[in-house]
Amino acid sequence: MCSLNPPSMTMLSLLLTAMMALQTMAVMELNVPDQPVVVLHGRDAVLDCSFSPTSAFKLSDLTVFWQLTDTKRSVHGYWGGSDQLADQAERFANRTSLSPAQLGLGNASLLLSSVVVADEGSYTCFVRVQDYASAALLLQVAAPYSKPVVTLEPESSLRPGDELALTCVAYGGYPEADVIWQDGSGRNLTDNITTSLVANEEGLFTVTSVLTVVLEPNSTYSCRLINPLLGEEGHAFVTITGQNIAFPPVALWVTVGLAVCLLVLLIALAAVCSRKIKESCEEARREAEEAKELEEEESKTAMTLLNS
Ligand SMILES: *[C@@H]1O[C@H](CO)[C@@H](O)[C@H](O)[C@H]1NC(C)=O
Ligand SMILES: *[C@@H]1O[C@H](CO)[C@@H](O)[C@H](O)[C@H]1NC(C)=O
Ligand SMILES: *[C@@H]1O[C@H](CO)[C@@H](O)[C@H](O)[C@H]1NC(C)=O
Ligand SMILES: *[C@@H]1O[C@H](CO)[C@@H](O)[C@H](O)[C@H]1NC(C)=O
Ligand SMILES: *[C@@H]1O[C@H](CO)[C@@H](O)[C@H](O)[C@H]1NC(C)=O
Repeated sequence: MCSLNPPSMTMLSLLLTAMMALQTMAVMELNVPDQPVVVLHGRDAVLDCSFSPTSAFKLSDLTVFWQLTDTKRSVHGYWGGSDQLADQAERFANRTSLSPAQLGLGNASLLLSSVVVADEGSYTCFVRVQDYASAALLLQVAAPYSKPVVTLEPESSLRPGDELALTCVAYGGYPEADVIWQDGSGRNLTDNITTSLVANEEGLFTVTSVLTVVLEPNSTYSCRLINPLLGEEGHAFVTITGQNIAFPPVALWVTVGLAVCLLVLLIALAAVCSRKIKESCEEARREAEEAKELEEEESKTAMTLLNS
């Protein structure tokens, strides 16, 4: 027979009490999204946080506290049956709310209105009823870029073999976008690309990518913009045809015009000359004839003189 002596009985009961206490703790569950919550700049965000209390509770016994995980700054507080915003970080003023009706159902989700880039980060949801739990979620902000636009430098007077700078610009987006340049057959161009980002006061980026190429006729260059959160956002391309190349149009027409003028001038000159030549020839002949006639007459006169 196995008999337990009194001290070990006490130990066992203590252990059981502790285990039961742990079990009660474990019953309070807090659920937040595992994946980052992606919200468009300017839109409202719902930071989900739901809890399953062990038993029925009064709202006056509930404490909910949202804070920034890194800095521990207060985002929104609720206890004693009302919002507690005395120590709320200033930039969240008038932008946060909990739904009292939802709180009673175990939903401590926070509504954050008009999300800006600076709101991005980790948020911790803390809930206490009989016991407490906390969990963190990640908020990510996204903003679509404007449609990219490609420009050429220089725009005209291009000759095969010239170096050409193609600039692709898109603005107002977030986060940092990838720019991919491709040729007409979809091959990635990786040489001589310089991409830079500039943030405005709202934290939204303007992305500028410059591709330097040596000009070949009939080539297409496209610029694709990829937002890591929103996927491919757009593309723009330029095609360099024969029109951009060789003679710049103005010089071409000037050349053609000059050539035509010269030709007309030459024809006119030739016509004038030939008429002049013909005229002078005829004159010469007429003079010659006249001279002959004169000579004949003279000789006739001479003959008459001789005869007489
Ligand atoms: C919040 O709203 C109150 C009342 O509507 C207003 O007086 C206060 O200036 C607002 N605070 C901010 C930071 O907008
Ligand atoms: C919790 O409440 C918010 C509104 O405050 C709602 O958008 C969300 O769907 C609710 N979540 C659940 C799990 O009911
Ligand atoms: C071009 O580059 C992108 C991103 O770097 C890649 O996803 C894609 O597969 C590449 N395409 C080709 C044809 O190499
Ligand atoms: C890159 O640029 C340099 C000078 O700007 C030029 O010599 C070189 O040919 C370019 N490479 C390509 C692949 O266009
Ligand atoms: C350029 O492309 C046009 C139409 O795609 C084609 O007719 C022409 O032969 C091409 N020229 C060269 C030099 O490849």
